[in-house]
Amino acid sequence: EAAEKSGYEHFMLKEIHEQPKVIKDTINSVLTDENISFESVGLSDEDMKNIQQVYIVACGSAYHVGMVAQYVIEELTSLSVRVELASEFRYRQMKLAKNSLAIIISQSGETADSLAALRLCKDKGVRTLGIVNVVGSSIAREADNVFYTLAGPEISVATTKAYSCQLVAAYLLAMQFAKARGEISDERFAQLVEEINTIPEKIEKILEDKERLQWFASKVVNIKDAFFIGRGIDYAVGMEGSLKLKEISYIHSEAYAAGELKHGPISLIEDGTVVFSVVTQSALYEKTISNMVEVKSRGAKLFGLTTYGNYAMEDVADFTVYTPRIDNLFAASLSVVPLQLLSYYVSVGKGYDVDKPRNLAKSVTVE
Ligand code: G6P
Repeated sequence: EAAEKSGYEHFMLKEIHEQPKVIKDTINSVLTDENISFESVGLSDEDMKNIQQVYIVACGSAYHVGMVAQYVIEELTSLSVRVELASEFRYRQMKLAKNSLAIIISQSGETADSLAALRLCKDKGVRTLGIVNVVGSSIAREADNVFYTLAGPEISVATTKAYSCQLVAAYLLAMQFAKARGEISDERFAQLVEEINTIPEKIEKILEDKERLQWFASKVVNIKDAFFIGRGIDYAVGMEGSLKLKEISYIHSEAYAAGELKHGPISLIEDGTVVFSVVTQSALYEKTISNMVEVKSRGAKLFGLTTYGNYAMEDVADFTVYTPRIDNLFAASLSVVPLQLLSYYVSVGKGYDVDKPRNLAKSVTVE
């Protein structure tokens, strides 16, 4: 097992470090030079033109990818998008639109609820696309089309590299939808191609600075509760950060859309409550900062996660982490990495079994 960890103490840390490579592999599987081709997936431009409604169905972290995907697809195309938890979707009486595509996101391709949702869509005559990591898995076999993420085997129960590959798969899909439907200019498309290719090297940069997060983790190792706030894509990343933290460090943690704070959770803020704030979306920057000020005035300790250049963050946050600048649409790919590292170091600091957290399974094949 030590050999399989290639010198890393845990699979999770190894897999966090594999992200630049596997993201690159996933991008390169459909992007050549300036063009994206979904031929291997089996989705033609004509298909993409005719689709009007997209349903994204998944569980756990894959659902969080779906949330990011929703923002990105909505921003780039005229498609209507809904993201659903597979365990809810399968028991609802949802009226599925004609000309729709159901995207099932699953690392293992075996999650019982996601598989059931896929079957339900097929029964209702809705075309299905799996974004799946495991070749030949049930969802990959049964979906009409499959976009394979190339994360390789993921051992740690808490997903990192598979999540990151799912994100880029979603971006590429959104970009090609926009292109096929004539909803994006050539310049903007070329710009996004350039930007998506910078994700791996920018993650390398973040990984170089991991000791800072390790230090910060040592300061929060004994907290009992944590909150994550953000808006838009930052909210989706906050949900993933919060899930990671609770999964492996057993700290009670909740993610909230920053604008919802005043509708309840602000009553839980006391002196010293730690609030992680993800603030990368320029159009929402001021709004989230004002929410940070609100919780700070009630005693919160603030962790601010933003991009280089937003140095005013230091006037509000007690601890700030910067990620390299990138197109707002792709920010999740960078901001999730410090949150992965943070959860990892908190779990290690508490002496827990990072790769095999209690009560959780890598793949949930029962209901
Ligand atoms: C389990 C795993 C999560 C994963 C979820 C969905 O809860 O611990 O990491 O996000 O299942 O799994 P899937 O294989 O469908 O992506």
